[in-house]
Amino acid sequence: MSGAHQVVFDEATIRSRVSELAREIEAVYGDEHRLILVGLLKGSFVFLADLAREIRLPLQVDFMSVSSYGHGTTSSGSVRFEYSGRIPVAGRHVLLVEDIVDSGTTVREVVARLRAQGAESVETCTLLHKRIASGAPQPRFVGFDAPNGFLVGYGLDHAEDFRHLPYIASL
Ligand code: PRP
Repeated sequence: MSGAHQVVFDEATIRSRVSELAREIEAVYGDEHRLILVGLLKGSFVFLADLAREIRLPLQVDFMSVSSYGHGTTSSGSVRFEYSGRIPVAGRHVLLVEDIVDSGTTVREVVARLRAQGAESVETCTLLHKRIASGAPQPRFVGFDAPNGFLVGYGLDHAEDFRHLPYIASL
């Protein structure tokens, strides 16, 4: 990676925390929950891939894609759904998987949508949490508190670059 950057969470640290998160999730859900992991594109793709392989429960995987226009606002309807996934969520236990919760707008809107579609339960697992979101459902599973700075890597981008880095860095 070129340019000034500082590794914030290295590969080993992330791997170990992802594995702990999987144990936390296994403590809440059992085989009978037929869990669906729903990853939000694109940022969650690396985290979801690692997390899904660590969870020792039967599960299904789906994705949603939203675009934000109005980050930081508290008004409703500030994300547009571009792809809402394939697996019907009615009556199902859904775990929304996010790379980072910032203003909380995305999680708030997506959780509301999943509930409106009749999901039996909806919880959120985010790798990083800025802990500034208010008025949004609190993620049940959190990997790390996000430090200040613009973070890239492990799914997170800057103008679409750096998503592939195996670690998380601050630009
Ligand atoms: C980022 C991130 C979260 C959202 C968090 O997505 O992946 O989905 O922003 O912000 P919020 O809490 O303020 O809503 P982004 O829109 O950058 O798209 P990407 O996942 O494709 O990178």
